[in-house]
Amino acid sequence: MSAPLPDHPLARMIADEIRLHDGWIPFDRYMELALYTPGLGYYSGGKRVLGRTPQDGSDFITAPELTPLFGETLAKQVSQALDATGTDEIWEFGAGSGALAEQLISVLGDRIKRYTIVDLSGALRDRQHQRIVKQQPELAHKVVWADSLPDQFDGVVVGNEVLDAMPVKLLTWTGHVWQERGVSLNPSSTEEHPVFMWADRPTSASGVRPPCDTPDHHYAPGTVVETHDPAHAFVTTLAQRMGKGAAFFMDYGFPESEFYLPQRRGGTLMCHQGHQSDPDPLSDVGEKDITAHVNFTGVALAGQEAGWEVLGYTSQGRFLTNCGLLESLSRPVDKPTAADFKTRAAVQMLITEHEMGELFKVIGFVKGEWFDAMGFSDGDRTHTL
Ligand SMILES: C[S@@+](CC[C@H](N)C(=O)[O-])C[C@H]1O[C@@H](n2cnc3c(N)ncnc32)[C@H](O)[C@@H]1O
Repeated sequence: MSAPLPDHPLARMIADEIRLHDGWIPFDRYMELALYTPGLGYYSGGKRVLGRTPQDGSDFITAPELTPLFGETLAKQVSQALDATGTDEIWEFGAGSGALAEQLISVLGDRIKRYTIVDLSGALRDRQHQRIVKQQPELAHKVVWADSLPDQFDGVVVGNEVLDAMPVKLLTWTGHVWQERGVSLNPSSTEEHPVFMWADRPTSASGVRPPCDTPDHHYAPGTVVETHDPAHAFVTTLAQRMGKGAAFFMDYGFPESEFYLPQRRGGTLMCHQGHQSDPDPLSDVGEKDITAHVNFTGVALAGQEAGWEVLGYTSQGRFLTNCGLLESLSRPVDKPTAADFKTRAAVQMLITEHEMGELFKVIGFVKGEWFDAMGFSDGDRTHTL
């Protein structure tokens, strides 16, 4: 059961929807409303969301926020992909504060005709726009925002931590059957102060279970797993509509065999608020991020079945190192400044195994002729998908 919520219009709106649907909504719908309800959701309500510390009002930090070297290094891979696919546009999905866009444009400005950002959050779009106009005034005319994907497009797609922000379904194992976990109202709820609670129901479709080979009896009763239909549908749509080009997604997650390990009894759902994580998405709705790890096997299959070919899959540490991240650090510096030490610490965080280097992965796709993408030149793990 969640703690009583502060008076929040989003909580009352979700409670109304639960009442309208006989007292229960599936978790993916709850997550969609919590994150993306226009003007009220966590991402669309104007909260600062991304930043460096709790003091700046943000909740979490991402790789492009950590150091511009992330985008400047990714730019080398994007540049190679633009050349290999004969395209001149970049499409970024879920651009957050606009940091990655700023970094890619600063390196690739003359190489690209247009940089299109697609983001579900109107509030973040405003922030992206202000940042690009301020930081890259000469190149700002190349950046455009699209509400949705056109029926056909060419270019190189990038998405950093966008797949993990897409709604997931939750399944629970009773010991006999898989049920769908959703959200109901606790009997102590009032109209003014809704209190949410978990509620499991038999799944509406028959045969619903985790998309893996693990036999059901290997799971302990009470196990919770996520499934990722919206993220996979998103990849399918991109792959179908791309005429020629490539795509690179960076995110935390695992191949299917690791994702659905019976030992992972609580699933991977996580919330972030004030640079702290917690496992309860039912409290403080609209005030914290809700996220789940990515099933990269599912992403690879969705892309492949819709016409993309996998270019490679590896850890973020390997990918960035393959793209030359460390070379930019090895230039001799006579007297390192505080800024130099800060950059070194940020790079360590991006690539070391116990920080973001191993948990975060990169998957690349191509539509058109396959090429040897530099980011996967050493340590490609496509065979593990
Ligand atoms: C965790 S933030 C990552 C932001 C940024 N890429 C970064 O690395 O700092 C997730 C972003 O994805 C956006 N988003 C989620 N689902 C999306 C979708 N289907 N299409 C486009 N943007 C989406 C959110 O609005 C938000 O900007």
